[in-house]
Formats: sequence, C-alpha cells, structure tokens
Amino acid sequence: MTTLAEMAVEVLTTADGRAKCALSRRHAETWFAARAAGTPIPVGTAIPPPHPARPAQPDLLDPRDVPRRRPGSPQGRIALLHAVAHIELNAVDLHWDIIARFGHIAMPPGFYDDWVKAAAEESNHFNLICDCLEAMGSHYGALPAHAGMWRAASDTAEDLFGRLAVVPMVLEARGLDVTPGMIDIFRRAGEEQTVTALEVIYAEEVGHVAYGSKWFNWLCGRDGLDPKDVFHALVRQYFHGALKPPFNEEKRAEAGLPPDFYWPLTGKDEPVD
Ligand SMILES: [Fe+2]
Ligand SMILES: [Fe+2]
Repeated sequence: MTTLAEMAVEVLTTADGRAKCALSRRHAETWFAARAAGTPIPVGTAIPPPHPARPAQPDLLDPRDVPRRRPGSPQGRIALLHAVAHIELNAVDLHWDIIARFGHIAMPPGFYDDWVKAAAEESNHFNLICDCLEAMGSHYGALPAHAGMWRAASDTAEDLFGRLAVVPMVLEARGLDVTPGMIDIFRRAGEEQTVTALEVIYAEEVGHVAYGSKWFNWLCGRDGLDPKDVFHALVRQYFHGALKPPFNEEKRAEAGLPPDFYWPLTGKDEPVD
C-alpha cells in the first residue's frame, strides 16, 4: 500500500505545475476517503528530494534580477499574478514536504489532515491563478520567477519546530498582510475573476497559518517549552531579516498568532494605544 509519505514524494517529484496540482488533489481525496472509511492510510516514511521538481519554465532568477513592474498597467498586474502563481506552486510542495520530511516524528492524525487539506487548497490556488493569467493572455512560465523560494524549506529540513515557525507562521502569515491590498488593485482594475480567486486564497490562508500555530503550540506544550520564546529564537535563527509591519492583526489573531509573537521580530516596539 502506498503510504502518505510516498504520495507526498510523488507530488514533490512531479515537475509540471498543473500535473503536480492534479496529483496533489487526487492524493488528498484518497487520504480523506480512507480516513472517512475508518481505514486510514499509514503515514510511513520516505526520502523527499532536496528540491521539488520544477517545470522548464519559468526561468528562476535571483530576486534582485526579477524585473519589477507597476501594478497600474495590465503587464504589471500579470507580473504580480505570475509571482502569486509561483508562490502557490511552492506552497503545494511545502505542505507535502512537511509530511514527507518529518514522517519519522510521531504526530497525531490531525497533523496530517491539516497539511493534506492545505496542500489540496494550494493546488486549487495555483489553478485559479493560472486560469486568471491565461484569461489575461499569459500563463505560468511566461515570466521569470524568484529562485530561492525553497530556502526556508532547506534551512529547516532538520527542524520541525523551525519549519512551522518560518513557513506557516512567518511566510504564510505575511500573505495575510499583503493580500487585501492585492485584492484592491484588481478590484480597481475591474478584474473580477482575479478578485474572486484572491478572495478564496485570502480566506483559506487563514487556515494554513492556524494549522502552523496549532501544531507549533502543540509541540511546545509536549516538550514543556514557552512557545513565544521558542518562536522568537527560531525565527531569528532561520529567517533572514526583520518582519515587516503593517500586520493584519485581525486575521493573524484569527489564526492564533498574537502580537507578542511577531512585534518583537520587527526591530520596533509594539504600538501602544
Ligand atoms: Fe495559497
Ligand atoms: Fe497557504
């Protein structure tokens, strides 16, 4: 029987974006059907690749070499969406990677439910954004994209606490901060298909951050550690640079991220009323 960790590796080693996402959604359905039937698929262990397979296009460039375009033009909005598609594809791999990479650490079944669900949602996000790009006459792969997206995963490949701190609780939480502004850009441009897609993403990303803080807190509680102190130490260890306000305090709270987790990492003082 194929284990969940093996399914994860299959997704990670599929290069084409749409094919990766189709497989990701199929494996998620299989996992949840087996859970519902009371015959869960074993998690197992597997060896994930150091880097997930990627399509031949887009070219991956150093972030400094990726041209910036203003979102005031259709080309600028295409470039912005292309960057989002790249992030979503990376997110599919990140969620399967946490399953495959840390299969040797015994976690409750709900841990796997959460990341399989998140991976299926990221797959849908990638497809939705690709649909928008195609409706605008472009496609994923048409523009260069950031290399180094996998850095956070490589840096935390040996540290589940670090992975949870940096990926869902820093990087995905940042998505909650910036997505409303992006929705405004597309709303002002009258691009309703993209507004709808970004609203789906915005709603579901709260869940991904929440899964991160839930399992980070769970691990800290298991080990009798203060989650806030551990979070600060790990973000300083693995995340390069300060966290950038303004923060989406409301959605971060909804996702279980209190201000005393992130404000001390900005290098600024917490605002006082
Ligand atoms: Fe996403
Ligand atoms: Fe996400």
